[in-house]
Amino acid sequence: MTKRIAVLGTQWGDEGKGAIVAQLAKDADYVVRAQGGDNAGHTLYQEDGTKIVVNIAPSGVIYPHVKNIIANGCVLNLETLAQNLNGLNSQLYISDAAHLIFDWHKAFDGAKEKARGKASLGTTNRGIGPAYMDKMQRTGLRASLLQNLSELEQRICSQVTQKNHELQALYPNSTLLNAEQIWANIKPLAQRFAPYVTDTSLLLSQAIKDKQRILFEGAQAAMLDIDHGTYPYVTSSNTTIGGILTGTGLGLNAVEKVIGVAKAYSTRVGEGIFLTETEPYTDIKKITRGTPSLTHREKAIVRSGNIDHQEYDKVVTRYIREDADEYGATTGRPRRVGWLDLVVLRKAIRINNLDSLALTRLDCVDGIGMLKICTGYKHNVTNEIITEFPNNHSLLEQYQPVYHIMPGWRNSKDIRAFKELPKDARAYVKFIEQSLDTPITLIKNGCGLNDYIERKKVW
Ligand code: IMO
Ligand code: MG
Repeated sequence: MTKRIAVLGTQWGDEGKGAIVAQLAKDADYVVRAQGGDNAGHTLYQEDGTKIVVNIAPSGVIYPHVKNIIANGCVLNLETLAQNLNGLNSQLYISDAAHLIFDWHKAFDGAKEKARGKASLGTTNRGIGPAYMDKMQRTGLRASLLQNLSELEQRICSQVTQKNHELQALYPNSTLLNAEQIWANIKPLAQRFAPYVTDTSLLLSQAIKDKQRILFEGAQAAMLDIDHGTYPYVTSSNTTIGGILTGTGLGLNAVEKVIGVAKAYSTRVGEGIFLTETEPYTDIKKITRGTPSLTHREKAIVRSGNIDHQEYDKVVTRYIREDADEYGATTGRPRRVGWLDLVVLRKAIRINNLDSLALTRLDCVDGIGMLKICTGYKHNVTNEIITEFPNNHSLLEQYQPVYHIMPGWRNSKDIRAFKELPKDARAYVKFIEQSLDTPITLIKNGCGLNDYIERKKVW
């Protein structure tokens, strides 16, 4: 029986990793975050249907029986952690080697993005990049300091002096940091979380010996990986399988099974290449949550499946955005939406050596007349078709997606058995499996905790 599973994003994040982890965590002893910080936004529905969003707290926090670990590879904002845990009765452990995020990291994130102007990355503004920069240049403050308040205070003061020099020199218009104020905010949080700080590598290696069930919860996704993603439009950590090992301090045997989570379509927030996107990003930026949904005429276009209609792709992605509430869980930004891209998934499968996929949001494409799946990219001039996503993604400026067209379906919501899904929904799933030579073991077919189809036992 499987004891240790990693759940990783395969696209550009927001695939529903949190929902899959929450589902599997019912039967887990540990849920572990190994990389990233509160740039993640994992939306969870509790047993009673209430929705919560966690950013740095592992998604097991909704269950009192689960031990939740924020491991050494994470960057930790204590304020967000406190917000995430609000009202929950959770067990928590924080690695003493995890790096802390402070106000100066956020200040640099904001100032850098502003200075980049049109070339900005569209970060979540949570200070993630600057916190990892401090880690890499060996000046960061780690969670072990929470257990030594006087040293923490002194280190914060000297960091603020240094960071103010840097801010002034690089971004003269930025507001300077106030050490006293930062310390006043951090001190009660440090006192609160100090008892949870421990060597989580040791804890987890003992848990492995004790044959405990451990879930490693990925944050972000393959295409946002600092090495393998669409650099520089990526996050600052290894979001792929290697990040789980270095991010926890465990060896190769730590993970027995790796599940990739993919949405039935694609989304991306922030800048960067996205070949199957169907609307100019500049148009999407103007949209705000709650803006009027599609007109009757537009809904009819979606249902018609008339792919030759010039507005078809655009209205379909708008339909998905509304139906699936595709707005950033962390930032509230409208997400860019496009067709499912198998070239992207192929890369995620290879890099992570995925055993299987969990396909999410199948319910959100229900009602669309015809669906497109990108199977390759075709060169504008030579017509050459490639099926592997290049590391040098700027090459892709000369390529267009090649689509396989499939009929849509209706009335699939609330179905809990694969064989009961409409024939065309099953065909959609099987086409993905066959094209990628990877089984889809879990299908999420609704937002609720139990709205999923388990085709094969995961644990
Ligand atoms: P989950 O775990 C989607 C994106 C940002 C930006 C880039 C860099 O919910 O899937 P950063 O703040 O990390 O420096 O931003 O990465 N990004 C995410 N996009 N889901 C996430 O997390 C993301 N975390 C970061 O939008 O493009
Ligand atoms: Mg998210």
